[in-house]
Amino acid sequence: MLKKIIKNIKNKNIKIVFPEGNEAKILEAASYLKTNNLAEPILIKSNSIESHKKFKEMVDQFYELRKHKGITKQETVETLKKSNYFATMLIKNGLAEGYVGGITYSTADTLRPALQIFKSKKKTKVSSYMIMSKNEKVCFFSDIAININPSTDELVNIAIQTHDSVLDTWNIKPKIAMLSFSTNGSGGSSEFVAKVRKATEIIQYERPEIIIEGEMQFDAAFVKEIGIKKMPSSKIAGQANTFIFPNLDSGNIGYKMVQYLGNWKATGPIIQGLERPVNDLSRGATVEDIIEVSLITAQQCLDRRNNEQ
Ligand SMILES: CC(C)(COP(=O)(O)OP(=O)(O)OC[C@H]1O[C@@H](n2cnc3c(N)ncnc32)[C@H](O)[C@@H]1OP(=O)(O)O)[C@@H](O)C(=O)NCCC(=O)NCCS
Repeated sequence: MLKKIIKNIKNKNIKIVFPEGNEAKILEAASYLKTNNLAEPILIKSNSIESHKKFKEMVDQFYELRKHKGITKQETVETLKKSNYFATMLIKNGLAEGYVGGITYSTADTLRPALQIFKSKKKTKVSSYMIMSKNEKVCFFSDIAININPSTDELVNIAIQTHDSVLDTWNIKPKIAMLSFSTNGSGGSSEFVAKVRKATEIIQYERPEIIIEGEMQFDAAFVKEIGIKKMPSSKIAGQANTFIFPNLDSGNIGYKMVQYLGNWKATGPIIQGLERPVNDLSRGATVEDIIEVSLITAQQCLDRRNNEQ
């Protein structure tokens, strides 16, 4: 999958900003990207932010954007001295196209500037997915990083965004399982089951071309023999490749268990639904992880360039 991306993005000079430009792993990843003509890295060094030729202009812009929230000019200056905010403002000003950060910042600190400065596409909530792979198998898990307790409508949005990402970015036809502790009513009528079932019905009605079923347990979605038993009339039981979790607890815990107990590779989280490509790194990310997330970010930047034409 990444080979295809490398072919697409090579020699396209896609400018990716790295807010943590003092970190050794970031420097190594950026050097690889640059040497192989896979991106044009912009490394932010924390001691050079205030002397940037656009710093004052960006302070004014950010103040205008956020003054309705009660921020003062001095607080704006302090905010923009932080490399996560400054890097995001570079994108706002067209000086960078994508953002890769999070080796020192938490997910919340990586995403908050982007959520404040760009907003989301189509006024829907931003969410995330993780690419899980082992040998030739590839699955997508969502939401694993942002929405803590999504409502029914937010769950609908997460599933639709993930469907579109899997199809548009990866050219894979998603077969979506809406996960729960219950399969096809086995768990009774609790509000948790009802939320997942309702979200599934809304998508089946609004986007009939999407292959989606639920509520279902992970084993019914993933293991054919169990799927046939628990959901005999299902078209995707045992064959799902896209798994939507009912909340962030289950999604985040779930992907990490698959990663560490099952030895699957986890790539991401990839952020979806934002106006601009901004992606988060785990604080334990290796140089290889940083390169992979950068490649995916570059592809998102390219998709955006192509959509603008
Ligand atoms: C996304 C998140 C970071 C936002 O945190 P926050 O800054 O404390 O939350 P706020 O509610 O103050 O939101 C900040 C801004 O982002 C917007 N926002 C929050 N969540 C959003 C979403 N999912 N989509 C779009 N906008 C969102 C808010 O509307 C707000 O905008 P405003 O300041 O213009 O009014 C929060 O949902 C979070 O912490 N999620 C869990 C992150 C995590 O720990 N993940 C697990 C590890 S990977």
